This record gives sequence, structure tokens and C-alpha cells, in this order.
Amino acid sequence: MRHLTLIGIGTGHPDHLTRGAVGALQRASTILIPRKGTSKEDLAGVRRALVDEVVSGPVRVVEFDLPVRDEAIADYRERVDRWHAAIAAVWAQAAGGAERVAMLVWGDPSLYDSTLRIAQRMRPVPEIEVIPGITALQALTAAHAVPLNGVGEPVVITTGRQLRSRGWPPGADRVAVMLDAGGAFSAIPAEDVTIWWGANLGLPSQALDSGPLAVAGPRILATRAALRAAHGWVMDVYLLARV
Ligand SMILES: C[S@@+](CC[C@H](N)C(=O)[O-])C[C@H]1O[C@@H](n2cnc3c(N)ncnc32)[C@H](O)[C@@H]1O
Repeated sequence: MRHLTLIGIGTGHPDHLTRGAVGALQRASTILIPRKGTSKEDLAGVRRALVDEVVSGPVRVVEFDLPVRDEAIADYRERVDRWHAAIAAVWAQAAGGAERVAMLVWGDPSLYDSTLRIAQRMRPVPEIEVIPGITALQALTAAHAVPLNGVGEPVVITTGRQLRSRGWPPGADRVAVMLDAGGAFSAIPAEDVTIWWGANLGLPSQALDSGPLAVAGPRILATRAALRAAHGWVMDVYLLARV
């Protein structure tokens, strides 16, 4: 693989595809689509549907199974490092000798996504082109018509794991949370905190909720559990603000 185009596809809703992404998809000759195990199979389906919708010329679409992370490796960084090496090897195999390859990336490749890091593990390292995409955070703030930052304040984005283990980031008036395995907001004092929450944004199963954390929090946990029960997975993102 000599050239790799990473195409940010937004949330999967066709309205979130930029013209740049459409052009890159139409120019691609080989497109790789990862499958993340059966429970996320319909996410691979969303990617396939996007390709079908915008690409009319000849294109080779290759689906591949993402290697599973070895949870037996105790050290988190080492676990991730070995996983990335395994993924890079699978990409090379899936490309099957193609020199120019495009890959669809959820949201934007710069935000909580390892595709750029994995690409650096390939040998030789391919020339990389990034087509920016609309992030889940932008889809969230747009859906609620709410600003991401307070006036003149920094933007703080963290993970559910960090919110649980470290609490509210010092000095921040707002904090956006991604990659939450479930209800990390329950680990912080709810008093005077407002939440804007969104799950499966841009997909037919999209759910939104907002309000004082003490009141909206339990409702959100119930909606989240219902979505997981219905689909086998749920992706959510939220913004918390101290008032
Ligand atoms: C691996 S990160 C990928 C983020 C992506 N690169 C982006 O720019 O939005 C996955 C996390 O993004 C958020 N996410 C991605 N897509 C989402 C969606 N459609 N609805 C809600 N949250 C989403 C969730 O917090 C999920 O745990």
C-alpha cells in the first residue's frame, strides 16, 4: 500500500458526508471496511450503504474482521500496542497488493480514533491523506443547539474511564465525554450540573436527552440500557456543564 486516504464519514448519516468525502469515495478504487464482530455488524452495514449511495463507478470493497484485543495482557498500553500491530497486518492483507486504498473512519480521524497511529505501524509507511469528517461531538452540540465551550473557556474532552477515575477535570466549566462504557456521569456529584446527551447520533435509533443531571441521569441510564438491549450496542456522547 503506497497511499492511504482516511475518509471521515461523520456519524453515518448521509447528510454528514462532506463534499470532500463524497469526492474521495468516488475516486477510490479499493475501499476497506472493518467489521467489528457480530454485535456491531450493522455499523459495517451503515458504511456499506454510504458507499453504495455515493459510488457509482467500479470499486473494490473489501470487508475485513478487526482482530480482537487480548484482554489477558495486563498493561493497557501494551495491550493496545499489540492490537494496533495486529490491525496494521490485517490492513496490509486486506489491501491485497492495492497501491491506493481508502478507509472509512467514523466521525473524524483526529478524535479518539487510532487509524492514524495504526497507519504509522505499516511498513513501508504509506503516504496518508485525511478527509475531515463531522465528529460525534459536533453532531451532539448541533442536535441540542448548545455551544461546546463557555465564553473564553478551554474545551475539555475526556473519556468515561477518565471521568470515573479522576472526577471532574480541574478548572473546567464544561466537559465533553466520549467512549463511556456506561453512565460514568453517575460517578460525579450531580448538584448544579447540566447534561446534554446523545446516543447513536445520525442513525435511525438516535436518542437525545438533556436537563439537570440529577433528574436526567437516571432517565438516560434507562434509555441507554433499552438501546443496548434492542441493538446489542450503543454509542453515546455527552456534554456536562456546571451552572
Ligand atoms: C472510537 S470513538 C470515535 C470518535 C469519532 N472519531 C468521532 O470523530 O466522533 C467512539 C466514540 O465516539 C462517540 N460516538 C461515535 N459515533 C457516535 C454516534 N453516532 N452517536 C453518539 N456517540 C458517538 C462515542 O462516545 C463513542 O464511544
